[in-house]
Amino acid sequence: MDQTGKIGIFDSGIGGVTVLKEIIKILPYEDYVYYSDSKNNPYGDKTNEEVQKICDNIVKYLIEQDCKIIVIACNTASTKAVEFLRKKYTKMTFVAIEPAYKMVHDYSYENPTLVMATKGTIESEKFNLLLKKYDNHKTYVLPCVGLADIIEQGDRKQIKQYLNDNIGIYKNKVKNVVLGCTHYPLIQKEIEEVLGKVEFFNGASSLAKHLKEILKQKKLLRFPGISNTLNVQSTLNIEFKDSQGIEEKEKRFYSLLQK
Ligand code: DGL
Repeated sequence: MDQTGKIGIFDSGIGGVTVLKEIIKILPYEDYVYYSDSKNNPYGDKTNEEVQKICDNIVKYLIEQDCKIIVIACNTASTKAVEFLRKKYTKMTFVAIEPAYKMVHDYSYENPTLVMATKGTIESEKFNLLLKKYDNHKTYVLPCVGLADIIEQGDRKQIKQYLNDNIGIYKNKVKNVVLGCTHYPLIQKEIEEVLGKVEFFNGASSLAKHLKEILKQKKLLRFPGISNTLNVQSTLNIEFKDSQGIEEKEKRFYSLLQK
């Protein structure tokens, strides 16, 4: 493993683009492979064993693509599979996203909070430990069954309907919203249409800083001496792979990346 290796990143679809966007802002000189596992989407309702098996195959693929580090850009996969992966691939470093609930504790403790995530994330031991540790005692936890799937399909009408039906009751009740699934930052506007102005908490930018720090520590950072403020568009090298090979996904991915 050396500096020239790629950064591998995966999610159960294109939602992880919200994480990649934060990463490329501060690591524009790296090469990336993004794996969108639309074939197995959604992960939220699968058992731990199923998600571990799926992630195992993705990791094998990313290692074959010469990845020097792997980012799990899916909260559900992080909660269900990161420990399994770390045990199995001891030479690989995994950086995993988690719901930004600690940020609420640090920056907006007083305010009522809604945590939105998949059922899998919310039921996981990892998330419950996080909740217990940073509880502000004004938190509603909402398993958004099926929401990641609708976002993945990109059907705006269905998304609006889902939000009206499921989060409408929190209008005027919450000021903070934790986006505990990497698909959800894609619908911030629609969430605010239902809840009104709220503050969003998303773990992607902290993950990006953490990733850069780890690459530095492990001497895996490409061009460590160069500042990171170059024009990102002209330098990026991002390969996209979808597990079903859907061309439309690729188009949506690149268009979201540029927004
Ligand atoms: N983006 C994934 C997450 O962060 C979606 C999970 C799913 O496929 O259900 O949890």
